[in-house]
Amino acid sequence: MLLTQTGRVMSRKNSLFITLEGGEGAGKTTLLEKLQQALSEKGYEVVATREPGGTKLGNMIRKILLNRDIDCSIGNYTELMLFLAARTQHIEELIEPALEAGKIVICDRFNDSTIAYQGAARDLGVDKVEQQCFLACHGVLPELTFFLDLNPEIGLERTKKINKDSAPQGTVDRIEAEKMQFHQKVRSAIQQIAVKEHERILTIDAERPAEEVFTVALKKITETLLNKGITANV
Ligand SMILES: Nc1ncnc2c1ncn2[C@@H]1O[C@H](COP(=O)(O)OP(=O)(O)O)[C@@H](O)[C@H]1O
Ligand SMILES: [Mg+2]
Repeated sequence: MLLTQTGRVMSRKNSLFITLEGGEGAGKTTLLEKLQQALSEKGYEVVATREPGGTKLGNMIRKILLNRDIDCSIGNYTELMLFLAARTQHIEELIEPALEAGKIVICDRFNDSTIAYQGAARDLGVDKVEQQCFLACHGVLPELTFFLDLNPEIGLERTKKINKDSAPQGTVDRIEAEKMQFHQKVRSAIQQIAVKEHERILTIDAERPAEEVFTVALKKITETLLNKGITANV
């Protein structure tokens, strides 16, 4: 969706902006890869991306934000601004042009993560952070969001097994390293957003096997594409 000059949010006709939300290890990246493959095989043009990241600058900011060993402090508000700077670049350089070109954009984390992590868990204020997110993305908002809901105890256990660019194998990144209470606050904040924005957000029980999570998400995307009259370019 995007903001019109009159301040209304409207949906784009020929493209679809989807976001994946949830705590660490909920299965966002796994779902992103499955959806990209399935939709590409159906003939859709899909851009799969992630936050923070998606652009060269975004990936540089990602390293600053997630590297646990950086040798400087990052204040909570500075952290928010870094996430938002990466988002603005991402919207301008990648997401909006892809939507203009009629593609399906699937983004691993977006505004809801910022509202939950920085607004709720870091206590900067949910409403304030929501407004700042809206400004940072120029009102370009997802039409459909999957919230992979999982107890963080299970999610963090899953992440310990994988190797990531932000942290060497078997270790955790700067945000994963937060206390369990922090991750519980994140979960509860996204749950609240999902209740408030139930038309946009579909909550999926992320304890279910990855294949089942994928099937639920793909069905919803297929229905949404059908409703919008979007067909594959085959
Ligand atoms: N539904 C699931 N059930 C069990 N394990 C899963 C599920 N989805 C993903 N995983 C595994 O959990 C780990 C974290 O998944 P990942 O997709 O990287 O999560 P996220 O991107 O949300 O942090 C990976 O090892 C992945 O294979
Ligand atoms: Mg991931």
